[in-house]
Amino acid sequence: MSDMMISTEPATGNQIWRGKVGNVDRAMERALSAKTGWARESTARRMELVRRFANEVLKHADPFAELIARETGKPLWEARTEVEAVKNKVEISITAFAERTGQKKLDSALQGSAGLRHKPHGVMAVLGPYNFPAHLPNGHIVPALIAGNVVVFKPSEKTPAVGEFLTKLFHEAGIPEDVVQCVHGGADIGKALVAHPSIDGLLFTGSAPAGIAINKKLAGDPSKIVALEMGGNNPIVMLETPKIEDAAVTIIQSAFTTAGQRCTAARRLIVPDNFYDQIVPAVKTLAERLLVDEPFADPQPFMGTVIDNQAADLLVESREALLERGGEDILAMTRPNTDLPFLTPGIIDVTAISDRPDVELFGPLLQVIRVADFDAAIAEANNTRYGLSASLIGGDPKDFERFWAEIRAGIVNWNKPTNGASSAAPFGGIGLSGNHRPAAFYAADYCAYPVASTETDQPRASIGIGLKDTSQPVRKSKDAHK
Ligand code: NAD
Ligand code: SIN
Repeated sequence: MSDMMISTEPATGNQIWRGKVGNVDRAMERALSAKTGWARESTARRMELVRRFANEVLKHADPFAELIARETGKPLWEARTEVEAVKNKVEISITAFAERTGQKKLDSALQGSAGLRHKPHGVMAVLGPYNFPAHLPNGHIVPALIAGNVVVFKPSEKTPAVGEFLTKLFHEAGIPEDVVQCVHGGADIGKALVAHPSIDGLLFTGSAPAGIAINKKLAGDPSKIVALEMGGNNPIVMLETPKIEDAAVTIIQSAFTTAGQRCTAARRLIVPDNFYDQIVPAVKTLAERLLVDEPFADPQPFMGTVIDNQAADLLVESREALLERGGEDILAMTRPNTDLPFLTPGIIDVTAISDRPDVELFGPLLQVIRVADFDAAIAEANNTRYGLSASLIGGDPKDFERFWAEIRAGIVNWNKPTNGASSAAPFGGIGLSGNHRPAAFYAADYCAYPVASTETDQPRASIGIGLKDTSQPVRKSKDAHK
């Protein structure tokens, strides 16, 4: 098997990067050699170095965004927002570290002091996805480094160039090369990292099938911390609103930003009968206007390609399968050039399909489901094994109160898109969307473990009850057997 990998630009098919598959054992040796030194650095020093990393990101913002756009096929304007998120992560993570896993004095009994501090786990393996090849792994790496862990990062095999660029920025900031390493490879290298005895934690962002496989593999070893950020089959429920245009924009942003390749993208639009004719045509009209083009096109497109031809093939097949089972096109998702993974936004009414597949279709295909009323809409929205994000559009505060209370998801929004989550809030889902270790602001929690201590500068102790009195002569009695 070749130990070379190549990465191609989805929008052109041109090669963008060539490199070697990594050596996991070697990376682990290097990580272990750096682990103690990095953990013993002061927190202030580690924070200074990640702040320098933020400066490096800023300094290289243009080439960084261009590389993201080229390697993922997303528009340049959107790649720029990803670079911005990478930079902003640093201050957010510093605040989160202090707030969630810093130090504090506890009330102490009588003498000495008691305190709570946190320690790093050690060697963290980070597995990244391709849709946000910099922002999402960075969301694990920065909090892990601040907490004092060393990191072995395997970027998605579909976006190795961005992974390597990101890692170099850490090094240019002065973070030692053994403290944060980039190891290239596909799922096999991911599996080798998962199975490696030297990892202390596994921080994964990707699909549910891969996350479940990782969870099974590590289930027998409770000593390793495992954070799984997975996909969704996210619903938008529509109620009455006078602002139909805005509602349509919010639905479009939810379903088609990043060509639908967001874990939080809306996959299902659930509409009570009486609003269907107001909202569905408005969404269709707007979707028809979306520009789909290569990342650097002028005018800038709304969306670019999906990640590769394989992903485009799968989406085309998934649409055909839905049509065969009774789905009806509202707007056909098309593939203008079969050699390249551009897809136009598709909307399909799947109401007539009785056993709709509860899978994540990771691309620009929105399924519409017509229901009788709000009760049925909530039941339908919860009719998934996933639970990442959900939005209610329209309705009044009482409707949202009910929606919030009854919907099972880690992100529940009102009149806002299902995507575009804030890094300053926890980010995670329930069901197949995660394992209750949310990322973003709460990433600090899985990057360190709490240590409670009570301390005095000298041993001072006494036993007040249950000791023999040695000042009295020993009693000789048949009962005194102690
Ligand atoms: P993926 O699961 O195919 O791969 C993610 C990473 O895991 C890659 O680095 C891959 O090489 C590795 N990998 C795959 N199988 C593995 C295995 N069995 N053992 C170890 N490593 C393995 O995901 P993807 O296709 O790159 O990304 C898209 C998916 O990620 C979507 O499902 C999306 O919803 C999800 N995602 C989730 C979040 C979140 O925060 N919840 C964010 C972005 C994307
Ligand atoms: C993602 O992580 O895939 C999307 C995050 C978001 O847009 O909410």
